Parts: sequence; structure tokens; C-alpha cells
Amino acid sequence: MNYDNILSESSNGIATITINRSKKLNALNKQTIEELHDALDAANNDRDVKVIIITGNGEKAFVAGADISEFADFDVKEGEKLAAKGQELLFDFVENLGTPVIAAVNGFALGGGLELAMSCHFRIASTNAKMGLPEVSLGVIPGYGGTQRLPQLVGKGRAMEMIMTAGMIDANQALNYGLVNHVTELDELLPLAEKISSKIMRNSSVAIKAAIKSVNSNFKDGVDGYKTEIKQFGKCFGTADFKEGTSAFLEKRKADFPGA
Ligand code: COA
Repeated sequence: MNYDNILSESSNGIATITINRSKKLNALNKQTIEELHDALDAANNDRDVKVIIITGNGEKAFVAGADISEFADFDVKEGEKLAAKGQELLFDFVENLGTPVIAAVNGFALGGGLELAMSCHFRIASTNAKMGLPEVSLGVIPGYGGTQRLPQLVGKGRAMEMIMTAGMIDANQALNYGLVNHVTELDELLPLAEKISSKIMRNSSVAIKAAIKSVNSNFKDGVDGYKTEIKQFGKCFGTADFKEGTSAFLEKRKADFPGA
């Protein structure tokens, strides 16, 4: 499929999806959300893709938020629908994807942009990155999961301060908060994401999928994460990857995972 607002390419097991509306600082309009959903779904269903990297085009922004021009005249019903649809199509979708998704935050990650980065399985950032949830400065609140995922990642007090002040933190503070795992120079950002991806790709994709499900269970209402872990752990024993991984260890050779 051809996209207007994103670029999607894959090589060597890595799908790189780049949000490409740099004139609007890569703001997420409806079409961009739909295109991201489509590209993520395609990458997730491609057996050759082992890791997905999401980044923004240009040197200024990862994503400067949801596209304000699209919702400025919405009413209560439309506002609720906007959040629900976005969460379903993109934010929950990314978080629950079986393929690991890394956010490479290359500049502003504000509002929906930070929410997208937080939906990814983990984040790395360039030194110029700035992150925040400025929604209350617009008279609204984060609606793409930000009030839930930010406290999960940085703790309730820090999340409350970031949300209430609508302020931005820089990459080093984000690192200090545990919001991003690594900070590097902008030109080193994608190489670092690829280096981490290559470490991930050495492992069983089937086991990684089970691990994502188990970790996510910790954050789902009414779901016992320990029970999910037991179930997923047991399921691994029925996979070809498990046979290969354990055999390779015992035979003192490198595992060659079939991914099944
Ligand atoms: N939605 C729609 N358009 C956006 C946008 C958003 N979230 N963020 C930036 N843009 C657009 C601007 O309107 C501008 O478009 P124009 O050139 O047609 O006027 C263009 O992107 C460049 O942005 P600009 O504001 O001129 O850049 P800047 O360097 O002066 O400021 C920011 C950068 C990120 C501080 C500023 O763009 C900003 O505050 N954006 C909104 C952030 C926000 O509140 N996000 C949460 C939305 S819920």
C-alpha cells in the first residue's frame, strides 16, 4: 500500500516506519493514524520482520501531538469517539503487538506523540528530544492513554506534575525518569535502534511475543499477570523455538530459531 503520511521500509529483519508530515511536525491526523495501523499490521504479519522501529522524519519532531486542527470544533461525543478510535487503531494496537516495537524519539514528542512513544515497548531518544503532555494547556486531557501509561513509566507524582504543568522535559530528564532507555546524538539514533534490534533478533520471536503478553498483563485491569505468565511459560514448551533453544544450549552451539 502507498502511504501519504508515513514511510515504511524493511530490511534485515527490521521494519522502520517513519512519520512523514514534517511541515506539521509529524502531527497525527486521522489519516496518519490509519496509515500507521496498516503499516504496523503488515509488519507484524510479515514473518521476515523481527523488530519494528517507529521514528519521525526530520530533525525537529518525532510527533508534535494529535493534529489540533482536526478536533478543534468537536463536541463531547466526537471527542470521546476520537480517543476511543485512536486508542483502538494505534495506541493499544502498538502496545499489544507481538512484534517488538521501539520508539526512536528524534525531537518533539508531545501529546499524542509522547503517547505513541509510550505505547511502544520501549523508547530511545536523541539529545534534542523534548517530551511532554501539553493537553491541559489546550483545555483537554491526554486521550490516547497518556494518563495511564505516563504514571506506569515514571511514577504517579512525576506524571501528575508533567500533566498539570503541561511542560516539556528534555532527553536527559526523560532518561533520569526512566521514560527512555538510552539517549544518543541524533545521527546515532537509528543506528542505536538497529543495534538493539539486532540483539533482540538473536532470540526466539515466539518467546518474545509470549513475554510481551505477560509483561502487558501486569497493566491490565482484572487480569492476573502471574497467571498469564504461567500460561505463556507453559505454551513455550510446545514450540519448535524452545526445542531449538534448549538443544542448541546443550549441544554448545548457537540457536537457529525457526520462529514457530
Ligand atoms: N497539530 C496540528 N498542527 C501542528 C501541531 C499539532 N499538534 N504541532 C505543530 N503543528 C504545525 C503548526 O501549526 C505549524 O503549521 P503552519 O506552518 O501551517 O502554521 C507547523 O506545525 C510548525 O509548527 P510551529 O508551531 O510553527 O513550530 P515551532 O517550532 O514554533 O513550535 C512546538 C514547535 C512543538 C512547540 C509547537 O508546534 C506546538 O506547541 N505544537 C503543539 C503541541 C501540542 O500541544 N500537542 C498536543 C496536541 S493534543
